[in-house]
Amino acid sequence: MLPFPIQGAHLLGELVPYVVATPNNLQMLDLSPFGLPTPTAHIIDPLRMESAIFLDLLHKLDGLTFGPEGMPMPKWVFYDCSEVPGAIYGLARPVERVWPKVRELFDIPRDYQGLVPVSMYVAIPMPQPGTWFGHNLSSLAPVFRRLGVIGDLDLAGLGSLTKGLALKCFQVNEFWGATQWASKALHIHAKFGPLRLQTAYTPAHSEHETLTYGFTCDDRALRSSMGDPSAVIVRPEPQEWIDSADVPAMIALQDRIEAGGQFCIPCAPKRLSDERALVPIAEIALS
Ligand SMILES: CC(C)(COP(=O)(O)OP(=O)(O)OC[C@H]1O[C@@H](n2cnc3c(N)ncnc32)[C@H](O)[C@@H]1OP(=O)(O)O)[C@@H](O)C(=O)NCCC(=O)NCCS
Repeated sequence: MLPFPIQGAHLLGELVPYVVATPNNLQMLDLSPFGLPTPTAHIIDPLRMESAIFLDLLHKLDGLTFGPEGMPMPKWVFYDCSEVPGAIYGLARPVERVWPKVRELFDIPRDYQGLVPVSMYVAIPMPQPGTWFGHNLSSLAPVFRRLGVIGDLDLAGLGSLTKGLALKCFQVNEFWGATQWASKALHIHAKFGPLRLQTAYTPAHSEHETLTYGFTCDDRALRSSMGDPSAVIVRPEPQEWIDSADVPAMIALQDRIEAGGQFCIPCAPKRLSDERALVPIAEIALS
């Protein structure tokens, strides 16, 4: 349990935290974010052979969640760009309590005794101390929705809870991330506060309709992301709305950013459909 009310409190009664990090990186992490301890047995060292099955399951979680988005990670990218330079925090269920459908989807070996991940957050430190880049957020919730799995646990709030706890575990001060304009994950990212835009249209990314965003990661932002009603964040009013299908509007905003303008996504998008959203934009007044 956490020392403040959160949206996904029920999840912490059923799921347990885990961390993937090398012994060196582990020293830099807070293994009890907001007082929620990560048991020693749930710390996975990617440099050890005994970690192989759990890391395979994590890779399958990535494939199940990012596969439909067209961005599953090759296993070597997972190792080179996540497990070794960064850290992974998530929630899991012991294999004996895992849903039969998940056992089938993950093709879990019969004699496996460990944890089965149901969510993960991956981030990589950037050269400025305390600044991290978010690399991957996955939750089984949309997989359950897609396949019509009705388990004994409502997974609503899992993605938000996982990202909030992970950023506390990684002791992030300044956060950077990249996501697509239509992504449902923007609903989660905006819970941390207004998202300062670094790009609005990104040819350097395989998905050009990607935006690069950031926020200052203090306890208020983290508690707000997890649904603590006492963590109130001041947000500017939206001045315009960009349709996630409107590429010329993204390019026009990118031009304004490159000309020196500063903009943010002040709050959550309005969803038009599963694939399309209207994303609010506000100009940040220069002080
Ligand atoms: C994005 C993802 C992590 C969300 O996981 P989740 O467990 O459903 O997350 P949460 O329940 O915490 O939050 C989802 C938010 O999106 C909102 N949302 C809006 N429209 C939605 C829709 N059509 N379907 C699902 N969620 C929707 C939810 O209402 C919720 O916000 P709320 O808490 O304010 O109600 C999950 O869908 C996923 O793994 N997607 C594939 C990978 C991906 O795109 N990752 C993000 C990369 S930046």
